[in-house]
Amino acid sequence: MAMKIAVLPGDGIGKEVTAEGVKALKAVLGNAEPYEMREAPIGGAGYEAAGDPLPEATLDLARKSDAILLGGAGVPEDEHRPPSKGAGVGLLRLRKALGLFANFRPVFMFPELVGASTLKPEVVEGLDLVILRELNGDLYFGEPRGISREASGERVGINTMRYSESEVERIAHVAFRTARARHGKLCSVDKANVLETMQLWREVMIAVGRQYPDVALSHLYIDAASMALVRNPKQFDVIVAGNVFGDILSDAAAMLTGSIGMLPSASLGLDRKGLYEPVHGTAPDIAGKDVANPLAAILSAAMLLRHSFEREADAKRVEQAVQSVLGEGYRTADIMEPGAKRVGTAEMGDLVAEAIHRIG
Ligand code: IPM
Ligand code: MG
Repeated sequence: MAMKIAVLPGDGIGKEVTAEGVKALKAVLGNAEPYEMREAPIGGAGYEAAGDPLPEATLDLARKSDAILLGGAGVPEDEHRPPSKGAGVGLLRLRKALGLFANFRPVFMFPELVGASTLKPEVVEGLDLVILRELNGDLYFGEPRGISREASGERVGINTMRYSESEVERIAHVAFRTARARHGKLCSVDKANVLETMQLWREVMIAVGRQYPDVALSHLYIDAASMALVRNPKQFDVIVAGNVFGDILSDAAAMLTGSIGMLPSASLGLDRKGLYEPVHGTAPDIAGKDVANPLAAILSAAMLLRHSFEREADAKRVEQAVQSVLGEGYRTADIMEPGAKRVGTAEMGDLVAEAIHRIG
């Protein structure tokens, strides 16, 4: 049966980088493998096409696909809209509707990019960790929420941090299994010293941990975790965090590797269906200029091959192609270094596609 891939470029640089992700997929799958790619709008593009950041037809296509490659959702107009009407809501609804609760954000330092990091080489050299972010709960979805007016006439904003035991349990199992398949170390991030929700989070992590005696479980409060991540990131193997803390930590972690333009992600549920997207946003300020780094999108395509289609060899081929292009000294603006060869978005994508052919 043909592999069904939904392509949702979204907004801003999402469109440009997704085109390069598609290029990489086509290069690696060639003519031999039957696959079907269909495109649909999301985010601001969804608003434009159907007056909805997640049009019905887009959700329908996503439901019927085995995997989804996404660019990003967000437009400048969002700053003047209430959060519930922003383009990013399309993304949040999609993750929730498909039950994609486990968001893998691997933070990997390509040796070629050690100089591009703002941190000292000895701090980031050889860095290889995974942030596992819970994606369906927390402040993002908790009720009640909203802005209302109190009797005094003053407005109050309310969001609810909420996790049920079963929600924590299912992400805990994914976290322990991930750590087990790597170096056996799991750090759970919470704020159990202040928040009851996080106290429950920690209790459940510890309880589930009893089933994984081979995994070393540790705990850090989110503030201390942020500090540890920039002070000595190599102490980490797998970090598991709730939706909000995971969102924040993953942007910080991205910068360790030189640029957020390098970080891919996979959002998975209970089956093989997955949503693959760069960790970065839609960067309206540089959109349409052919300067965005497409490597996060291309590496997301590699994760798609690995997780949704069990095509490990193809995934590796894409990753090796990226490494080889970096090794040849090609850089987009965000990871530019003296002496390197600067290329635009499309040229970087072409170089990776060529390298994929060469390696194959
Ligand atoms: C991310 C993004 C999204 C999030 C936004 C665009 C809604 O920051 O994927 O990390 O907060 O989840
Ligand atoms: Mg984010």
